[in-house]
Formats: sequence, C-alpha cells, structure tokens
Amino acid sequence: MTDNAYQKCINPDCRTELECASVTGGFKCPKCGSLLDVRYNWDRIEIPRKLCEFAQRWAKKDDPLNFSGVWRFRNLLNFCDDKYKVTIGEGQTILQQNDAIGEYVDMRPGRLYLQYEGLNPSGSFKDNGMAGAFSHAKMVGAKSSACASTGNTSASVALYAHSCGLKCTVFIGSGRIAFGKLSQAMDYGAQTIQIQGDFDDCMRQVQDVCVRLGLYLLNSLNPFRLEGQKTIMYRIIEQLGWRVPDWIVVPGGNLGNSSAFGKAFGELKELGLIERIPRMAIINATGADTLNDLVNNKKLVWNGGRVEQAIIDDYYADLTARNFSPHTCASAIEISRPVNLKKCLRAIDICDGLVRAVTDEEICDAKAVIGSHGLGCEPASAATIAGLKNLRVEGVIAAGETVACVLTGHPLKDPTLTVNYHKEKQGQFSNPPIEAPNDLEEIIRLIQS
Ligand code: F0G
Repeated sequence: MTDNAYQKCINPDCRTELECASVTGGFKCPKCGSLLDVRYNWDRIEIPRKLCEFAQRWAKKDDPLNFSGVWRFRNLLNFCDDKYKVTIGEGQTILQQNDAIGEYVDMRPGRLYLQYEGLNPSGSFKDNGMAGAFSHAKMVGAKSSACASTGNTSASVALYAHSCGLKCTVFIGSGRIAFGKLSQAMDYGAQTIQIQGDFDDCMRQVQDVCVRLGLYLLNSLNPFRLEGQKTIMYRIIEQLGWRVPDWIVVPGGNLGNSSAFGKAFGELKELGLIERIPRMAIINATGADTLNDLVNNKKLVWNGGRVEQAIIDDYYADLTARNFSPHTCASAIEISRPVNLKKCLRAIDICDGLVRAVTDEEICDAKAVIGSHGLGCEPASAATIAGLKNLRVEGVIAAGETVACVLTGHPLKDPTLTVNYHKEKQGQFSNPPIEAPNDLEEIIRLIQS
C-alpha cells in the first residue's frame, strides 16, 4: 500500500521524498523546512476512466466509505489502507443554485452556485480534512493530537479525535473565537488551551508543542488533511453533472482550502479527468489581508516553486516591528501569517487565480443576504459573496459565467455577530425583532403595519 503514495517537499531545489508513514519535523521537510505534498504513483492506482464512474458508489452507500463524501473518491486520495480510514459521515453537502443571491451579485439566472459545507458533522468544511488526517493518524499509530485554531479546526478535531479514540489538545487565541465553536470544543471533550495571543501565536506554539510532546498535528500544514479537502471540488463537479464551473470563490485564511483545491484541479487535469481548470478567486478580509497584499502589491508569485522568500521575510518582519495583530469580524480568517502561503501561490498559478480583500461591512451584508435567501453561513464564508459582488463590478467575472462559492461554515457558529447585526441595525439588511406589548390587538397591528 505504501507504494501508492509518498510525501514530497514542494521546494524544487530540494524535492526530498518521504514515506507516508513519516511524521518527522511536524509535516515540514526535514531537510529544508518547506511544506510537504502527498504525491501518488498514479500508474499503480486504479483510476476511473471518467469522473462520472464515481457515481456508481452511491448505489452501495451502506458501506460507510461509499457514504462518506470524502472516501467515495478514495482512488484520488489513496494514501492509506481501508482499515485505517476514518469517517463519521462527512461530506454530505449540497451545491445550491441560487438566483436571489445571484441577483445581489449581478449574475445571470442559473449561474451562481453555493457549495454549503455547513452540513458537515461539526458544521464546517474542516471535517473533509479531518477524515483524511485522522486516517493518517491511525495509520501511524498516533495516540494524542493537537491543533491551533480560530475555532472550526478545534471543533472538528475534537469531534474526530474522540470518534477514533485519540486524545486532543486545542490552542485558541483568548477572546478570538466565536461562541458556537468554543462550545463545540468543550462539549466534544477537547483539552482547550486559551493562549493570550492571536491565531498566529497559537500556530507557532502548537508546532513546538507537537514536536516536544510527540503529538499528531492537525493543522493544514498536515498534507493528509489537504487531501481530504480536495473532495469539496470533486463534489462540486459531481453536482454540476460532472462539469467544472468557470470560477471557484473561496475565503482565504490559513490558505489550506485554496491550496487543496488547486492541487485537486491540477491532478484531475494531469489524469485527463477534466478538460479545463476553473479559475479561482481567493477572498481575504481587509483586516487580515496578507495574501492580498503580497500578491497584488508585492507581486509575489509561485515562479515554479522558487518563491522570493525575501519578500515574505520583509513583510513578516514589518508586521512584527509594528506589533501587528489582524482584526476582522470574520474571526475564522483572522490570520496574518498563513502557513500554506506557498502552496496557495501554486494554486493561483494552476488556476489562473486572483486575490481580493473585502471589508467587514461587505462581509456582514453579504452574510445577511445569504441568510435571508440561502442556507445561511458564518461570516468568513460570506466573504465569497462579498468578493464576487466586487469582481462583478470590476468586470473580472462575467454575469454569464458559472460560479461556485464555497460556504465554509454553518450560521450557528457565530450567533453573537448575527444577533448584533440584526438587533443593533448595523447594516442595510438588518432584520431586528419588533418589540410588542402582551396585547392581541397591538400585536396584530404591529404584524400588519
Ligand atoms: N472559512 C471558515 C469557516 C474557516 O473556519 C476557515 C479557517 C476558513 C474559511 C479559511 O480557510 O484556512 O483553508 O484558508 N479556519 C481555521 C480554523 C483557520 O482554525 O478553524 P483556510
């Protein structure tokens, strides 16, 4: 089985290869410290001739691996034996075509799709990744796990850890995570460490802690997690009748999703399973816009893997000198040192991608529109619709193109923001409750007014 896949350093001047079973260096290349990829020996793997052949697995969904929206596509992430594969029913998500929201962003009818990942067991897209990562954790015999989180990773890790018998410790920034997510971590039994700092501080600490204590790291530095997240794209293609959209729009935080999506499309093209690769728009919040700044202002590019490190170093040195901490109401993407930056640059290269940043006000209004016309979502997810709206105004995306926005998390993740937006009339779509006396006539008058 190990012959099917291996890990490989993404640095073209290093290209170190490791067995899948290796976890040395906390998922960084032991030679040069770069990110690692999971790579496949495709000639040894049974690959369907056409993607639509995966649909046959629906007919056998009494097998949990076929029911899983991740493992249904297991041939395309074939890094471990079936006996290690973990599933708790992730990936039963839907692609909703939505003309009302399409009108808000000025798309033609029938063109806007929302991939709603809030339907996952822990309420966010992270569960796709955890199905992959916890399978690898079982394969390597891990007993204890850890992650840093803006909230959703911790909720998902906590749920998967107890589901497959691992201990888990989650690191969160004090006061930085939405209540729904914090409640999940505690309720699912995670040891929760609240650090006086932001996500970037937690991310630094967790890496050192994992090395010191031999804990299994579940952040998106873990390449096996990103393999699970590739399947979000497979499901979009599946629900479009095995066609690719013109655009994928995704929020950008630690940049795991965008990296995974780029890899997914690159592989599908290489395998001849798709004819063209969609373009990708990655949306930052303006208060946490490292990627936007580096790509659009500092002109940072993938450059065949030879990314200009000095640009990144200078940028981060400046953040440190200014004692900068990111701030956005979309707490899930409140990140200024995204660990997957280089893989994301590669994804931008593969998908002819672009980056934009949207304000908190644009995010909150878009979220209210998604809530009142769609299935709802948490603030970070709404950055996609806010970003798409601006890209339509710019004329970068045409009204007749097919666009799939990834709604990454459930609306109940952050009830505080939602209640404040509506009750305090903070935006143009606020829908505050109407105060009424305990009097029938007056209640009827208020309903009809
Ligand atoms: N949307 C939601 C709802 C998220 O929770 C996250 C990331 C993102 C978007 C950004 O995705 O990191 O792949 O670019 N949340 C992480 C966490 C950081 O800890 O829960 P990304």
